[in-house]
Amino acid sequence: MRPEDLIHFCPPGRLIIGCGTRSTLPPLVQRLGHRCGVFVTDAFFTRHTPWVQQYLDAAAALGIRTVVFDGGLPDPTTTLCDAATAALREQLAGTAPDHVIALGGGSNIDLAKALCLTLTEGRPVREFVGDIGGCRPLSLIALPTTSGTGSEATPGAILLDPGNATKVAVMDNALRPQVALIDPELSFTCPPRVTADAGIDAFTHAIESLLTIDSAAYDRTGHVDPGYSGRSSLTMMFAREAIRLCIAYLERAYRDGCDTTARIGMAYASVYAALSYGSAGLNAVHGIAYAVAGRTHCSHGSSNAVMLPYVLDALRDVRRVELLEVARLFGLPGDDAAALAALPQAVRGLVGRLGIPTDLRGFGIETSELDALVADALAVTRLAKAFPVVDVAGCYRAIVHDAFDGRLAADDRLELVAFN
Ligand SMILES: NC(=O)c1ccc[n+]([C@@H]2O[C@H](COP(=O)([O-])OP(=O)(O)OC[C@H]3O[C@@H](n4cnc5c(N)ncnc54)[C@H](O)[C@@H]3O)[C@@H](O)[C@H]2O)c1
Repeated sequence: MRPEDLIHFCPPGRLIIGCGTRSTLPPLVQRLGHRCGVFVTDAFFTRHTPWVQQYLDAAAALGIRTVVFDGGLPDPTTTLCDAATAALREQLAGTAPDHVIALGGGSNIDLAKALCLTLTEGRPVREFVGDIGGCRPLSLIALPTTSGTGSEATPGAILLDPGNATKVAVMDNALRPQVALIDPELSFTCPPRVTADAGIDAFTHAIESLLTIDSAAYDRTGHVDPGYSGRSSLTMMFAREAIRLCIAYLERAYRDGCDTTARIGMAYASVYAALSYGSAGLNAVHGIAYAVAGRTHCSHGSSNAVMLPYVLDALRDVRRVELLEVARLFGLPGDDAAALAALPQAVRGLVGRLGIPTDLRGFGIETSELDALVADALAVTRLAKAFPVVDVAGCYRAIVHDAFDGRLAADDRLELVAFN
């Protein structure tokens, strides 16, 4: 408990977690009173797993009609969403669906979230960016197959806008899933690259939301039902456990996809991280990562990963207590100062061992792009304003330059020791 907190906690309607729980979905959908749904996924799941057909057969036996869209793609665009809307509305031939089911990683879940709005309204998704204007979206049931984004517990759908190569957000608490069903077995088929990128995304969500602006200081701009509203004792509780689980299981799941304990651990880590950041919100890592991804088209997780150590370094004075907690969870030895100094290096080491570049040069960013990168990152104001430092612009600039050079404060200290 922190007496100053102003908690506005928004979880999904129901949270179901456990191996094999996907089999409980058809009777649950029936019990929720749904009769006609849209199932959003991608071709991997319709062609290479039995899960979609198993659901369709069981749902049909209960009298639930389901129309399938398996054209999901990584990092869905507004164009894909509009095309899916048109195709599905044609297939539905005037029947109004009452729910949408998403099976897949964050990409399929985000596409499905956006479809919850566009299928009923029949309008381009761009019209909902920034404000859904009081529309009532369809109920969403989300089954994540990666352990990373936590989109099954968040209020936003992130879509790529091909018009200006940036990501845009369709966001409202009404878009949080009615049901988030986390069956860890759905993640067992994730290849190592997807496991690493998604897993470091979960780790970033947990750390970034543990360190973000306090709920009492968060600028809610007068919103009575904000999607994000700063960290609180409640969000920090989930963040700590998510960090502990990522440290224990992320590398294990990456190295051995058959390590079921590690897979289950990361499934919990991902949703716990989402229960933290899904109400607390995020800041500089994601803000700068969006700008990096816009230029390089690298995966969401890897763009977060490259920035994370440098943002932690920048917060070493402002968030000393929390960073020390994380350092001890990492098992870093020595006195507090030594453990604290070693943390960004330890995180950078983890990023490297997951096969992700540890500086911006490694993503092909040029020196000439750095100013524009900082400007693009600062333009994501909802994230910049939550960064708990006084000079956000100056700090973003320093972080981007450090990330470009691969320079951490403790590196300089070691060089000095070596020089002396
Ligand atoms: N809405 C949110 O709150 C939120 C938060 C973070 C990220 N995101 C978005 O999520 C997206 C990234 O999602 P992601 O990291 O989950 O990856 P993803 O959904 O883009 O999937 C990546 C690839 O992995 C495959 N895949 C997924 N699960 C698999 C499985 N179990 N077995 C085999 N292959 C599998 C997919 O078919 C796809 O080809 C980005 O677009 C990002 O912007 C959204």
